[in-house]
Amino acid sequence: MAKYDDLADIYHNTRMSGKAFYNEYYEVPAMLRLLPNLKGKNVLDLGCGSGIYTKIFLSKGAAVTGVDISRKMIEIAKTYAPEAKYLCQNMTKLTVPKSSFDIAVASLALQYLTNWKPALKAVYRSLKKGGFFFFSITNPLFEIADVFDRSGRHYSWIGHDTNFKKGKTVVHGDYFRQRWIVLKWRTERWGKPIGLRNYHRTLEYVINTCIAAGFVIKGVYEPRPVAAGAKISPVEYKIRSQLPNFMIFKLQKPN
Ligand SMILES: C[S@@+](CC[C@H](N)C(=O)[O-])C[C@H]1O[C@@H](n2cnc3c(N)ncnc32)[C@H](O)[C@@H]1O
Repeated sequence: MAKYDDLADIYHNTRMSGKAFYNEYYEVPAMLRLLPNLKGKNVLDLGCGSGIYTKIFLSKGAAVTGVDISRKMIEIAKTYAPEAKYLCQNMTKLTVPKSSFDIAVASLALQYLTNWKPALKAVYRSLKKGGFFFFSITNPLFEIADVFDRSGRHYSWIGHDTNFKKGKTVVHGDYFRQRWIVLKWRTERWGKPIGLRNYHRTLEYVINTCIAAGFVIKGVYEPRPVAAGAKISPVEYKIRSQLPNFMIFKLQKPN
């Protein structure tokens, strides 16, 4: 199983190629559309990876602190976006000062946590009153598909195949069992498919854990890829224009 420390170089280079469909043509534009004006804001970039969002936030006039558990990712970020502050830390044990950030962002990072409570508590504590927390995750309803390859074809199935007369059914996908699942990053630009583990959580868990941490949910979004993505990957574009791969949440620490 791949780990972000081993993947850091290939991750950053692939993102820099401008051809990472799921990021540059899908998740990133959706997140940027939702974020408020960052000029003069103090922004926490959780699971900052190689600093790609960090650099965008800096370019929009924010002061940024990037946090990532991967030492290698932080090393790259320090070179790629050197004007930010960085902490190599597990976000479940954040040590940033209390009530110090206007905005926190966690792009595709919470999905690696087995327990969201400590991280949400830490983010809540780090935000000023009225501050916002934006996070994206793989869509809990769709990440649990039965995925397999057969005769050169790739299948991703959720649903059931039922014969009521015989009393038989095959169910594809297991939504309610919260567990580690392996997602394969298949695009040819990553070389051979890379397996990475997400900890699948139900929507019920995600929403109720946010509320229990004290946040108010201000918006929930199921973005679609931008039209330019059709040129990068017509197949992924078609799939992701009909079946969502991501969700974005906008939370607020009440005033
Ligand atoms: C898919 S990458 C996203 C990186 C960055 N947000 C971006 O969009 O370019 C996920 C990142 O989350 C980090 N991560 C995973 N678990 C973490 C944890 N418990 N604390 C901090 N960072 C974590 C990984 O090391 C990785 O860099």
